[in-house]
Amino acid sequence: MAVKPNSYILKIVYPGHGAFLYMSTLSENDILAVLEEVRDPQSGKSLIANKMIKDIHLNNGSVRFSIEFRDPNFPHKETVTKSAENAVRALDGVASVEARIIMNDPLKVIQPAVPQAPPPGMQPQAPAQPPKLTKAKYTIAVASGKGGVGKTTVSVNLAVSLAKTGAKVGLLDADIYGPNVPIMMGVNQKLGTRNDKIAPLRKYDVDMVSVGFISQGDAAIIWRGPLVGRMIQQFLTDVDWGDLDYLIIDMPPGTGDAQLTLTQTLALTGSVIVCTPQEVALADARKGINMFEKVEVPILGVVENMSYFIAPDTGNTYDIFGQGGGKKMADSMSVPFLGEIPLETATRQGGDNGTPIVVSSPESPVSKAFASMTESLIAQLEQKDEKDPGLLKRVFKIK
Ligand SMILES: Nc1ncnc2c1ncn2[C@@H]1O[C@H](COP(=O)(O)OP(=O)(O)OP(=O)(O)O)[C@@H](O)[C@H]1O
Ligand SMILES: [Mg+2]
Repeated sequence: MAVKPNSYILKIVYPGHGAFLYMSTLSENDILAVLEEVRDPQSGKSLIANKMIKDIHLNNGSVRFSIEFRDPNFPHKETVTKSAENAVRALDGVASVEARIIMNDPLKVIQPAVPQAPPPGMQPQAPAQPPKLTKAKYTIAVASGKGGVGKTTVSVNLAVSLAKTGAKVGLLDADIYGPNVPIMMGVNQKLGTRNDKIAPLRKYDVDMVSVGFISQGDAAIIWRGPLVGRMIQQFLTDVDWGDLDYLIIDMPPGTGDAQLTLTQTLALTGSVIVCTPQEVALADARKGINMFEKVEVPILGVVENMSYFIAPDTGNTYDIFGQGGGKKMADSMSVPFLGEIPLETATRQGGDNGTPIVVSSPESPVSKAFASMTESLIAQLEQKDEKDPGLLKRVFKIK
């Protein structure tokens, strides 16, 4: 790491004697020196020797740096971070200290098999092709322009509904910063390994992978930008999915660069856009549709969630957010409409307690709406398959 001294003027005010100017020459070297004394309790080695200290920034006495933990399950992250901050704070000329926790590659613990050298006399193999996801017949992204409209709710209920048809279904939580699949599917376990790969967790006949099965509790974790894309690739290629019929991908909210990159990284059969009926949500849904069209991912359909409210006591229905907006929007953009899902208390409760509504009340109006939406989606896939048989044979591509 390049060492840049960071001199600055410190103004010291003595009451009754005016202000004096004092030159401090705090440098990265000083910080590295004190961090040399802070040890990782597991290995007994210093944070410097373990190369855990990254990105030191000095600015007029305020110090920021990152501590990289390679093992996501390392139990002393907070203690080590506090000790490092305290050590730096004790240095002369330090006004404030902020240490960020960085998780380096959380999947590094699971090393892919090392390729074998070819036997003597045999031609070396061509360079490895990008990993291919050929096992899922249909890879479907569930997305929206707007947050909180029900992507995860639709993803889990769709995945479980598809599994009920006897299909083999995977659910990939691509929301690295706010993974909700573990809560909504009621799974609180850590990922293990199988056949030298990551073993997905299984519930309600759905195989799942989420970053929530790696990180711990509510600890604030900062994923480095490029790792987000790489982690999704690993979720596709290093997971022992088996032969899937459907892989449902719960996308993070929005249509920014991160979502665009994800969309380009995944070989998607198509996308399902979730919206709610009010105009502001529809405007964002249009952006979502445009994003997928820009990267030539077919829109399999629009789902309007929270279409109308079903009162739990009377069963009466109320159009809280307006009516029919999703269908009109889908028609105007010439994309299929897959159905309306009502707003219902039991659906929210099912999300919070980890029992999707299609499991707890399969006969409820919402579950019937999910079943009908699932049928419409399957019909769309069959149609697409007929129109463009090659579509379903597209392989996983990496930029
Ligand atoms: N049809 C519904 N009826 C009742 N509650 C619902 C319904 N759909 C979603 N919810 C609730 O609304 C909240 C947001 O839903 P959800 O988390 O699925 O949205 P999201 O689009 O995935 O959000 P984010 O953008 O944060 O990922 C959750 O508490 C969920 O249980
Ligand atoms: Mg979500």
